[in-house]
This record gives sequence, C-alpha cells and structure tokens, in this order.
Amino acid sequence: MASSRPPPDHRRMHESVWHRAEAVAWLDDPTRRGREDPETLWDRTGLAPGMTVVDVGAGTGYYDWSASDRVGATGCVYAVDVSPELVALVRERARAQGRRNVRAVRSRPDRIPLPGRVADRVLLANLLHGVAPTTVREAVRLLRPGGRLLDVDWAKRPTPNGPPVEHRLSATEARRALEAYGLRALTTAPHGPEHYVVILEKPAGLRSRSRAARPS
Ligand SMILES: C[S@@+](CC[C@H](N)C(=O)[O-])C[C@H]1O[C@@H](n2cnc3c(N)ncnc32)[C@H](O)[C@@H]1O
Repeated sequence: MASSRPPPDHRRMHESVWHRAEAVAWLDDPTRRGREDPETLWDRTGLAPGMTVVDVGAGTGYYDWSASDRVGATGCVYAVDVSPELVALVRERARAQGRRNVRAVRSRPDRIPLPGRVADRVLLANLLHGVAPTTVREAVRLLRPGGRLLDVDWAKRPTPNGPPVEHRLSATEARRALEAYGLRALTTAPHGPEHYVVILEKPAGLRSRSRAARPS
C-alpha cells in the first residue's frame, strides 16, 4: 500500500486466488497502521469480551488480531476469505500466536459456511466496492438481530494509496447499498486519512432478503 511500490492491479484484489506474498506485501505494510488503525475501529464499535466477530474478506488477518485480543477466550473471530492461500496463512498465524479464538474459514462468493445469526459484529474491510451481492447477503445472514455491520472502505477521492477512484464507493453509496439489505445506518465517520467507516445495525425481525440491491 505504500506509494513507493508500483500500484497493484486492482482487478486482482477481488479475484478468488490471491498470492500470499503479494497479500502480505500490501495488506501487512508496516506503514498501514498509521493510516488505518484496527484499534480505532474496534473502539468505535464497542467490541467486548465474549463477542463473536466475522471478518468477511479477512485477507492476512489485519483486523483480526486486535479483535481476538478484545473478545478474549470466551469470544471468537472468524476470519473468512475465498482465497485458500490466505485462509491457510491466517490459520498458521493464529496457531503460531496461540490464538485459539481465531478460526480461519474458506468461503465462496455465494456461501459462507457459518450458521446464521452467529455474529455480534461483521466486518467488511476494503471489500464492498468489489464484491458480489451474494457475499453481502451472506454477511447480513450471519449477523444476529441488534448486531452491527462495519463497512470500512476507501474514501471516494484521490488518496496516496488505494484503488482507482472510479472503482470506489463513497460512504453515502456504501450506506445506501447496505440499507438495501434491510440494515439500519447508525454512524458514518472518517477512519484515518484515506478511509471511512459506515456502521449499520440489523433490526430485530429482519428476514434474509433473497434479492437485495447490488452495491452500486
Ligand atoms: C483488499 S483485500 C482486504 C483484506 C482485509 N479485509 C484488509 O483490509 O486487510 C480483499 C480480500 O477479500 C477477499 N475476497 C474477495 N472477494 C471475496 C468474497 N466474495 N468473499 C470473501 N472474501 C473475498 C480476497 O481474497 C482478499 O483477501
């Protein structure tokens, strides 16, 4: 993500098979924390011991290690990704760090193999602007009533890092796209200098919609 490296081909960011080395280089860039801090995100959403988090499109687990610390031994973080290489990487890292509350899960764009209503928090980080509606539908299915979906994504303006501006969703576009799945928007805020976060709640009584609008 640092501007000294050549920019990645953004179309590849959303292919199912990511090369591990490339993902580590971009997603674990040591300068990233200064621009996009996981702790700030979890502070904002009140992540507490015992909660269950599902991180859809977890990549290398960038947001998951601090979530794991916060939910503790009685909580759980599911790091979900379509890329088998990255699922294996997160599993290895969790094992090496002795994190028994992090579980790496391989998904398909239309199927996340977890039970419905399992999550207090569902995170979509740097994903919504390139993901199929079937995946968003799955993310909403996993959220318990009253649970919150956090959508972190690139601001729709030129920034030193990130995908081409024309590939991005503004915070308003993201909020509207997610509201179309029946979620209720609570907050929109900047998340570091290059990102925003939209936080939405799943209302009690929301049934999974079979034909929600496609994120624009
Ligand atoms: C840009 S990376 C973001 C990774 C992580 N959220 C972060 O911010 O560090 C996008 C990730 O989403 C995964 N991905 C793409 N489409 C997906 C889908 N439909 N379901 C789950 N994961 C997906 C990719 O394999 C990749 O690991």
